[in-house]
Amino acid sequence: MGLFSDVSHLFFDIGIMSWDVLLTLLNLVRRKRRICHVTPEGHPGYGGRWPEFRPPQETDSRCSCPALNAMANHGIISRTGRGISFVELNHHIRATYNFSPTFCSFAPHFAARMLKKSYSNDTFDLEEIDLHNGIEHDASLLRLDTAFEPNQSKKHMPFIEELLAAATGKDKDGNDVLTTNDFSRMLGKRCAVARAVNKEFSLSLFHKIFGSANASTLVTVFGGRVDDLRSFLLDERIPEGWESRVRQPYGMTLMNFNKTTLGVEFGVCEKDWAEAAQEAAEGQGS
Ligand code: HEM
Repeated sequence: MGLFSDVSHLFFDIGIMSWDVLLTLLNLVRRKRRICHVTPEGHPGYGGRWPEFRPPQETDSRCSCPALNAMANHGIISRTGRGISFVELNHHIRATYNFSPTFCSFAPHFAARMLKKSYSNDTFDLEEIDLHNGIEHDASLLRLDTAFEPNQSKKHMPFIEELLAAATGKDKDGNDVLTTNDFSRMLGKRCAVARAVNKEFSLSLFHKIFGSANASTLVTVFGGRVDDLRSFLLDERIPEGWESRVRQPYGMTLMNFNKTTLGVEFGVCEKDWAEAAQEAAEGQGS
């Protein structure tokens, strides 16, 4: 069974990567989606009209991922955050954020594997995604480490405010924008400080790159726009009138996404934050 599933995963991954190359090439030659038509007609959010936002109730399930929580808060997936199928997640991530079919197939398959569930037949509650050192890891941009906050659906507001205030870019209309470098800088700080203050700290290279990949969604899907990210990150609410900044006809492919991820990852420098890390460790001791 183990060998069979390893081999079938390998074939699946090769298939996805080949399909992704094809979609990346097609994106180069096909026209971009028109503004106001990025979210497909018939899907919630078409023309920037998102279903009503309702904050989660006490008994609802939420997780560390703002993108999945926001879909639940708008009723695009179950508002309770429970009983979500991996297959429906694939469809809704694609229509809501305009990721490619390859990304949208790969990510829920990866989550199903992590939870040892069947992609085709099983469902999950959002909180299950927060398996520590599965996808969820230490030194995140938006949350305290698990050692300090076991409920990883809880955002750490000071981190989010600090991130939003770190924007150095402007777009052509003069809006504040978080750039790739801004994300690298803030990730470097989170790593250095978390390593200094958390006795249980762990961060494999794989998880560090995951951190850069998550940050890259904010550069690509949100164009780094601080006004949109304020609503998305603080309230897990999709701003009225918003649509994905990714306009390629086949969405953001894994290949293109990896380019942004590597740009963020190569810019991360923990050493720049040695002083801040020491101060945080001393502050903790006193
Ligand atoms: C099946 C799809 C997805 C799964 C299973 C998933 C899962 C997760 C998990 C477990 C985390 C916590 C990682 C950490 O510890 O920092 C996370 C964070 C995050 N995810 Fe997702 N996610 C998915 C799709 C998306 C999409 C489509 C977007 C963007 C549109 C997104 C954006 C983010 C962001 C911005 C973070 C916060 C990173 C941080 O705090 O450093 N995710 N996601």
